[in-house]
Amino acid sequence: MGWKYVLISLVVFSAFACQQKETESDETATKDYIRPIPGQDEPVDPEILDKGEVLISYNACYDCHKKDGRFKGPAYRDIAKRYPRKQVYIDLLAQKIIAGGTGSWGNPIMPPHPKLTQEEAIAMASYILSLK
Ligand code: HEC
Repeated sequence: MGWKYVLISLVVFSAFACQQKETESDETATKDYIRPIPGQDEPVDPEILDKGEVLISYNACYDCHKKDGRFKGPAYRDIAKRYPRKQVYIDLLAQKIIAGGTGSWGNPIMPPHPKLTQEEAIAMASYILSLK
């Protein structure tokens, strides 16, 4: 009976060891993709967040973005993990939502949304950066 126990423990142990390794490389890959910027979140008026959430649903942003997981564009939660919720990053993202662009998350391009006002884009960016 003894050798069976040893064999089973070996199998269980090596399966566990493999899993450990996989988790590690996944984490490194995620970190390289997200590249978090250090900084503290600043408080935002909850009304602006609600407005941002509604605007995002009404402007076809979900055609390319999901809250979790990459789609045609980066996941909102990954964007929130990269940028601290500070005015400077909210403004930066609002600008990018209006003007469109590429280069931050890989190859694909986000088309411009010229009909959005600065205020609307700021509400959307504030909402996205609150999804931590
Ligand atoms: C046609 C697909 C598409 C649509 C529609 C779209 N996006 Fe994007 N979005 C992208 C892609 C692709 C990127 C990554 C661009 C890059 O790598 O710089 C992106 C990036 C972003 C980013 C991160 C920008 C950065 O520099 O980190 C934000 C924020 C964002 N989108 C918000 C929005 C909002 C809000 C809407 C709706 C008004 C929207 N997107 C609609 C494809 C789209």
